[in-house]
Amino acid sequence: MVKRNTCVFISGKGSNLRNLIKKSREYVFPIKISLVVSNKANAKGIIYAKRNSIPIVIINSKNRYFEKKIFYNLKRYNIKLICLAGYMKIISKKFIQDFKKPILNIHPSLLPKYKGLNTFSKVLKYKEKKTGCTVHHVNEKLDSGKIIIKKTFFISKSDELENLQTKTQIMEHKAFPEAIVKLYRYV
Ligand code: GRF
Repeated sequence: MVKRNTCVFISGKGSNLRNLIKKSREYVFPIKISLVVSNKANAKGIIYAKRNSIPIVIINSKNRYFEKKIFYNLKRYNIKLICLAGYMKIISKKFIQDFKKPILNIHPSLLPKYKGLNTFSKVLKYKEKKTGCTVHHVNEKLDSGKIIIKKTFFISKSDELENLQTKTQIMEHKAFPEAIVKLYRYV
């Protein structure tokens, strides 16, 4: 099985990173996590990269050349796919155009509903009956690229912000690997 070199971008907890590393060990899973980029030096998720001896690039997004640094490393590690997993920076138009290969993002709502931040409080505020997560291609508009997969669950009356988040993450850990398999299914 050809495993595409993949870079995961994170800013925080890294549970999706952890899950993708685990999945990538399966023989038939089409990617290998070859690089992790974090814009936070103290992101908890970095530990999963360290434990698995995956190279890490920490970037300082206040430096105007930070995307150049990322790009240099993407080339260096021959990266064919980028997965944004809780990366809290907007990727520039130039970066998307220059990379030319797929960039996927995971978002904790059923897009096109509730783009951007604070999705769980919006879901509760508007008394949604269901919610979930979406994996989509990244384009120049926020949370607007072509959708690959969505996973849904029904909200119960007792659900509050915290457990909505927990339930959504359980869905995310299924959705991201499935979206990657789907991406390469006919390639
Ligand atoms: C996920 O809920 C994802 O949908 C959002 O950021 C969160 C990242 O979680 N974009 P983790 O860092 O992978 O645990």
